[in-house]
Amino acid sequence: MMRAPGSALRASACVASAGMLLVSCTGNQAGLNPHGPIARSIATHSWALLAACVVVYLVVMIALFVAIGRRRRDSDDRPETTVRLTRNVSIAVALTVIILLGIAASSVIAGRGIYSPSGAGAITVDVVGHQWWWDFQYHDITPSDVFTSPNELHIPVGVPVVLKAMSTDVIHSFWVPNLMGKRDLIPGMITNTWIQADEPGVYRGQCAEFCGHQHAHMALNVVAEPMDKFQVWIRHQREPAPQPATDQERRGRDVFMQSPCVTCHAIRGTDAGSHVGPELTHVASRLTLAAGTLPNARGHLAGWIANSQSIKPGNRMPPNALAPADFQALLAYIRSLR
Ligand code: CUA
Repeated sequence: MMRAPGSALRASACVASAGMLLVSCTGNQAGLNPHGPIARSIATHSWALLAACVVVYLVVMIALFVAIGRRRRDSDDRPETTVRLTRNVSIAVALTVIILLGIAASSVIAGRGIYSPSGAGAITVDVVGHQWWWDFQYHDITPSDVFTSPNELHIPVGVPVVLKAMSTDVIHSFWVPNLMGKRDLIPGMITNTWIQADEPGVYRGQCAEFCGHQHAHMALNVVAEPMDKFQVWIRHQREPAPQPATDQERRGRDVFMQSPCVTCHAIRGTDAGSHVGPELTHVASRLTLAAGTLPNARGHLAGWIANSQSIKPGNRMPPNALAPADFQALLAYIRSLR
């Protein structure tokens, strides 16, 4: 027998929805797969809400079908029946109030967990939203030790990290579902949140507030590492960029300094000091390019430098028309910035 196209469509929609539900339970960037205390309290609250809704729905549906199937009886008009029904309705109203209060209490408990760190913050990191990338600024009492880590937030495992969030243009929303809930980044205002990971790993995050053309390509990685590895990373990031080691890399540095690149990007240890675009001091050590859009590999970097508009239309970086030898030298230099 032929199946109607409508039912086939419905069946595939059901399969797709079930698939998405399962992915959200197990995957990376999945709120129901918590790896930190904030995400855990949100997930617990979500499951509690779902359980309450399922139970209430089932009870109401059973009561409805019993009522529909029941025949009228002579006794229905007696005063004692009216008293009994009034009592039943009163019990149902009381139960509804108790369930709503329980949900409110669960919501307050989850909210308290989100707003206050579980202990003293290990470090404070500024999260700055730009169209369409993230900047993470690591502060230090020594000004020369301040550095930024675009699109890649490194945190030590097992300790809370306080985040001060802000935006330079429009409203963005910082969201790492496996670790924490959404926090809006609002221009002209600092909002606070915190993040903590239970175990080492790379957790993907995503801008969760529509912020323009490339909102979908405004992703980030949170790299959670044991404290000793995290300290090694911090020490390395504080260092200025490595010196070019070959003639080609030296030529690449000169190309960088003489091209429009230098007007937007900073490379500590050189004369390039603009923070319009992401800092490139240790760009080759990062996992991705263009805010989680591309893997950080030579070919992708080449495509990005040549014409990033073909990859992420509307971003602030113009295409670069360089002579082939200059282009290869620039690539070699950027790839040496580990
Ligand atoms: Cu930034 Cu959406």
